[in-house]
Formats: sequence, C-alpha cells, structure tokens
Amino acid sequence: MLPAQRRLHGLLLSPYTIPVMDTFRITGRRKLSGSITVRGAKNSALPILATSLLTDSPCSFSNIPLLRDIQTQVKILNTLGVETSWKGRSIATKVRDSYNNTAPYELVSQMRAGICVLGPLLAKRGEAIVSLPGGCVIGERPIDLHMRGLRALGAEMHVEHGYVHAKAPKGGLVGAEIYLGGTHGSSVLATENVMSAAVLAKGTTTIECAACEPEVVDVANCLISMGAKITGAGSPLITIRGVKKLRGAQHRVIPDRIEAGTFLLAGAITGSEITVKGCNPSHLLAFLDVVRQMGIEVERGKTSLTVRPGKRPQACDVVTLPYPAFPTDLQAQTMAMQCVSQGTGIITERIYPERFMAAAELKRMGANITVSNGQAVIQGISALSGAEIMASDLRASAALVLAGLAAKGETLIRRIYHIDRGYERIEERLNALGAKIERIPENEL
Ligand code: EPU
Repeated sequence: MLPAQRRLHGLLLSPYTIPVMDTFRITGRRKLSGSITVRGAKNSALPILATSLLTDSPCSFSNIPLLRDIQTQVKILNTLGVETSWKGRSIATKVRDSYNNTAPYELVSQMRAGICVLGPLLAKRGEAIVSLPGGCVIGERPIDLHMRGLRALGAEMHVEHGYVHAKAPKGGLVGAEIYLGGTHGSSVLATENVMSAAVLAKGTTTIECAACEPEVVDVANCLISMGAKITGAGSPLITIRGVKKLRGAQHRVIPDRIEAGTFLLAGAITGSEITVKGCNPSHLLAFLDVVRQMGIEVERGKTSLTVRPGKRPQACDVVTLPYPAFPTDLQAQTMAMQCVSQGTGIITERIYPERFMAAAELKRMGANITVSNGQAVIQGISALSGAEIMASDLRASAALVLAGLAAKGETLIRRIYHIDRGYERIEERLNALGAKIERIPENEL
C-alpha cells in the first residue's frame, strides 16, 4: 500500500514526501515474526532513472522504491526537461525539452547520486553543468574518477563555482581505453557514469578496473534493453561499442541487497524467526559468510532468506571491500550485531575509513567499541540499553534502529530523515513483524 498524503506545517505533502526531522521511539526486546519483502535497490534505481536522458523515446522503470533520494533524482530530471509520472512503484519518463543542461546545487547537493546525470547529459546533449554532489557524511568522496573517465572520451571538463562543466568535442564523444582504478579500488558511480556516456560515443570503449557491483550490472542491463552494446558488466573489464541512438526501454530494478541484509540482521539481533522475501541471496554471499561465521542460522531459498533463533552470536572479523567482498553499506548494521555478540570482533573499513559514525551513538547505549585508523574493535556485551541518540547518516541510522530493537527499554533516535533516504517506511514494515517503532513528527516532540 502506498503511504497516505500528509500535512506538515500546514503544507499538503505528496505521498512521497517525508517530513525531515522526525524521531523514532523504539520499544526494545520484542520478538519479531513473519515475512518482510525487499523493495527495489535504491543504488540501482538512481542511475537507472538518469539513463532516461539518453533517449528521446519514452521509458518505464518498475520496482522503484519510494524514497527521498528517488524524489530528489526525479526533481533533477524534471529540471533537465524530463517529464515523469508515477504509477505505484513505476515511473514513466519522456524527455520533453533539452534546453536546460544544468543540474542545480539545491538538488544535487542533497545526495551523491545526483552526479550520475553527468555522463548521460554529456553523451546526448554534448554539454553538462552539474553541481558537485552531496550525500552522507561518511568521509571524503571525490569525483576525480568520473572526470578522468569522461575526459578520456574526449570531454573538456573543469570545476568552477562548485559546478562540474563538461563539453563533448564537436562530433560527440569518442570511445577510448580507460583505466578507472583509484586509490580505494573501483568506483560504482564512476563506472556507471562513464559506461552511460560511452554507449553513445563513436567506436569502442573499454573500462578496466570497473566496479563489479550488481547495481552496475543492472544499469548495464537497462542500457542494453535500450539498444546499447555492452559486454562484461559485473567483471572488472567492461566493453562498450557505441551506437548512434538508443530506444526507450522497460526495466525492472533488482532487489535491494542492503535492505535484505539489514532485515536479516533485524531478525538475528532480536533472536527471532523471520523470512526476508523477494531478495537475491547470490548478491549477498560475503555478508552471508560473515553471518554464518557468527553462528547465525540462515536458510537460503531462491529469492528468500529465513533467519532462525539460535545461540548467542559469536563475534568475528569483517573487512569491507568492493563487491564481491563484504559491502561497506552493511558495515554499521553488522557492528550493531557485534555489540551484543560473544567475544571481540574487529571491523576494518577499506572503502570509507571514517565511516564509523554509528559507534559513538551505540556507545551511548552501552556498547564497548574503540575506533581508530579505519578500524573498530567491538567487545561484545550481554545487552544494550535504550538511550536518546542521533542518526548521522543512512546506514548508521539503520544500525541504530537494529540496536534499538535489541536494547532494554526505550530508544529515541533523532533526525531519522537519513533513514528515509534509503529505506521505505522502515518503521511500518518492521512493525508489521511485531516491532514497536513510533514515528514522532518534529512538532509533536
Ligand atoms: N572514489 C574516488 N574517486 C572517485 C570516486 C570514488 O577516490 O571519483 C573513492 C571513494 O572516496 C571511496 C571509493 O572510491 O573511497 C568507493 O566509492 P564509490 O565511487 O564506489 O562510491 P559511490 O559510487 O559514490 C556507491 C553507493 C554507496 C556505496 C558505494 C560503495 C550509490 C548512489 N552509492 O557510492 O552507497 O557505499 O558505492 O559501494 O550507488 C549508501 O547507499 O549508503 C551508500 C553510501
């Protein structure tokens, strides 16, 4: 069911608008039961929506999660002349005019993925002016790889007054051999951006050290259904043979692997039996391996994962790395689980060495965590205790919700707007399993 329309400060909000400063009040230690269905992947849906800029024909994208970041991406597309209409969780798009090639600061600064309009705009319209992106405060997030890849295709690029200015050569972009590796390995959005630009370039492009994440494969499959010639997506070498024109497409977004992992941990941390439905377990192998090492009992189906209560989980060591290794986007949630596990676990963050914002808040709940030099050492305790805490970024917020579900007493999580960027109505869906999470609007606190 879609969320009902709501009012905030007298304004009638669209069903997809979520007030920004809500608080969650969680009553902990309740057992969960039943099943929960995973929505479409946010990190696929965002770049996939941007591919609508590459064609003059109508497109239709389904399994789009109803999230604040998606709303922002739709607004960015609207300012770029793309007409959009919603039907349930599907969006139909059609480029109506191509006069404005500027993606403004007010929108792109709200999230990192705003940058993925850069490649499609440049390839189709020959010019793009895109604000430097924003996103979660999880450490420095440069865009040098995006710029390097697009420059290799012949674009002239510079940054001025906070905007990236990109111009294709006369006659359009030209295919090239591109090495896209950075100091931290591959980049998901840079791979998607360069791949989305190369589909309309003259000749062949190869991207070496491409990101292998399932979301990159999903974007490639969407482009292929528009007529693009791409091979190798999902491997570190992607080959793209440029075509003159793309047609419209219908594409269904893959399930969100990070949501699936988060829900599985909600079952594990509360010692409950729940089934996470509509997911793709083969996208979660490294995570499931860690879960197995922790002694958490999980039954794997073709499109589902069932977690069962068992002995107290055992701490284990985790290292985040690009796919297919353990995802950074499940690191904070796994840390919450480690807080109440037996023994000591070390989490090493190799993608965003500063992404440990959840630790300080978990410590308020009694957790024993020491963070230094991109590592967190977590000494398990028998139980967390509810406290007043603050959400700082999307995945840290999810970790705090998990901790609140497991903690003794009541937990108040302020600024939960971060979680609305990446999890659709998480409280309603967890409450349907038996959790008690109240959303308290800012003006009612
Ligand atoms: N990097 C560079 N230069 C670049 C781009 C990235 O040095 O030009 C570095 C980053 O600083 C980081 C590493 O490369 O250390 C990986 O960053 P990447 O570019 O892969 O991240 P992203 O594409 O900006 C996506 C997801 C993130 C997720 C990362 C890693 C989207 C919209 N975002 O970001 O998702 O953490 O890949 O898997 O796809 C989230 O959903 O909570 C989230 C942060």
